Amino acid sequence: MNILSDYPSDSPEHLLHRLYAEQCQFLHISPQAMQQIAVEYHLPVSQVASVVAFYSFFHTKPCGRYHILFSNCTSCGYLTPEHNLMQMLCEQLQVIPGKTRQDGAVSIGETSCIGMCDQGPSLLINGIPLPRLNPERINQIAHHIASEVPVSEWPQNWFAISDNLYQRSLLLTEQLMPGSAVQMALMQGTEATLRKILQSGLRGRGGAGFNTAQKWQSCRTAPGNTRYVVCNADEGEPGTFKDRFLLQRYADALFEGMTICAAVIGASKGILYLRGEYRYMYPHLVEVLERRRKLNLLGQRILGQTAFQFDIDIVVGAGAYICGEESALIESLEGKPGIPRIRPPFPVTHGYLGQPTVVNNVETFIAAAWIALKGNSWFKSVGTKQSSGTKILSISGDCEFPGIYEYPFGTRIQHILEDCHAQNVQAVQMGGPSGKLINARDFDRVISFEDISTGGSMLIFGARHNLLAIHRNFAHFFAHESCGFCTPCRVGTQLLKKQLDNIANGRSTIRDIEEIKQLSSLIQHNSHCGLGHTAANHIIDGLQLFPQVFEQNLQQDFTAQFDLDQALANAEHIAPGDNAAIHLD
Ligand SMILES: Cc1cc2nc3c(=O)[nH]c(=O)nc-3n(C[C@H](O)[C@H](O)[C@H](O)COP(=O)(O)O)c2cc1C
Ligand code: SF4
Repeated sequence: MNILSDYPSDSPEHLLHRLYAEQCQFLHISPQAMQQIAVEYHLPVSQVASVVAFYSFFHTKPCGRYHILFSNCTSCGYLTPEHNLMQMLCEQLQVIPGKTRQDGAVSIGETSCIGMCDQGPSLLINGIPLPRLNPERINQIAHHIASEVPVSEWPQNWFAISDNLYQRSLLLTEQLMPGSAVQMALMQGTEATLRKILQSGLRGRGGAGFNTAQKWQSCRTAPGNTRYVVCNADEGEPGTFKDRFLLQRYADALFEGMTICAAVIGASKGILYLRGEYRYMYPHLVEVLERRRKLNLLGQRILGQTAFQFDIDIVVGAGAYICGEESALIESLEGKPGIPRIRPPFPVTHGYLGQPTVVNNVETFIAAAWIALKGNSWFKSVGTKQSSGTKILSISGDCEFPGIYEYPFGTRIQHILEDCHAQNVQAVQMGGPSGKLINARDFDRVISFEDISTGGSMLIFGARHNLLAIHRNFAHFFAHESCGFCTPCRVGTQLLKKQLDNIANGRSTIRDIEEIKQLSSLIQHNSHCGLGHTAANHIIDGLQLFPQVFEQNLQQDFTAQFDLDQALANAEHIAPGDNAAIHLD
């Protein structure tokens, strides 16, 4: 039985898909397989090996037939206030975390946020999300695995993912009729459509807030014959899951936006880069694309326009947060490790395969489709001067109604906290770990590019939450996700992680706080890409807003950060003896 092949990988032409298919069949990618794939793809073996090594969802040693990854996010993570759910399952199935059980049946590990933060503690089993975990469900999972029940025969309701849509505004109120926006754009002409988007003031919803029409215009006029439209559905920022919802419920509007962009810039190929954690949505998205082809909304002569042909492929990632950075994403699309490029040149002139490329977020394309249909005034009817329209938020953490909320820009944070029934809020992390940590003094501020900007997530921490544990979680996340290309980020994020571990373990003094500040500034200012620039944000904010969180764990006097006794524990076990002189007092 090979459960990993229970769901499809039908685009083997892409290297990532080919590697995925290999892993489905053999539960790992062996050196022989890498050689074979290198021959098939006319690539050096070293490139295939570097891709396998780069992405955390590929393995060079066999994983279990039931391969389980618990999300270690602060919202959908396995550590509940009462239980360590991963440890429970490991104990029941006699698995060591991170290792495959000797009989090859099960492997259990952890992974970065899987985008199920509004669904309770969650895991991926053979790539399929299983939300709402609790001790009872853990017992049931252990029982099913022990009895070797195929995942496809597990109760379907275990896998159900609720929408949790609580607040709609411009984009989520109604479904866009397939073809309506494309038809309007083609009828009005691409120049008029671009002007409409420019006048709407639409800015990218993926985080940086770059002006969308300017991006499209730069790509449209860039030298080159072939242009590409790429949708960034990597959504790896912990606490963010709005694109998951949009892909599931509003895929038509997304593909409509990509098609309009293609018409404007003159592209005939689009690619949706879907994060590996959302692979379970692949069949649904393929179905929507297929339906659109039948409606002549994709393919040749779209809506009868002889000169307009465009189609969309889906490429599924393999567990690397950095691939959300647009140039790393393009590298990944090209079948390489996702290492950010040196910019400039920017993707609008030198993107996919060196050609002019527009990369936009899922929500940006959906907004563009609606603007093409309903006009710029409709879009600008809400929002603020520099931030027109609405923002779709993923809200999770300590509130009664975690889920999806769409608000006009300019909405007060306090208002949002009341809507989701958050009480006793100590802090909110806006825009995920790379964003901004705020406390109650900021709750009267508003969401907007000119005030508190967010790529789409609000992580709420109530009074009960230990903020040091949150910082530690974020520091571990960045150290794990750093691509390793540049030293300030590769080494700096590891050092920050270690510093926070030391504070939590009571092995730091006030001098370490100074070191943390210097280190944070160094990483922020000397790293190559946005991951490094933002990795220390939460610590800088935390030290400013909640210094006591760090200080209360400090030692007054010098304490060795290196625990010699612990380091020697193994050796002492092998050669028992007690030489008092080697111990520190
Ligand atoms: C480390 C890192 C991760 C990112 N992840 C995402 C992501 O998951 N989705 C996204 O749309 N943009 C992400 N971005 C921003 C993209 O680089 C890019 O700005 C965005 O896709 C452009 O689309 P927009 O203009 O529609 O926002 C990330 C940036 C960095 C530095
Ligand atoms: S800043 Fe970090 S993620 Fe970005 S290139 Fe450097 S090592 Fe890689």
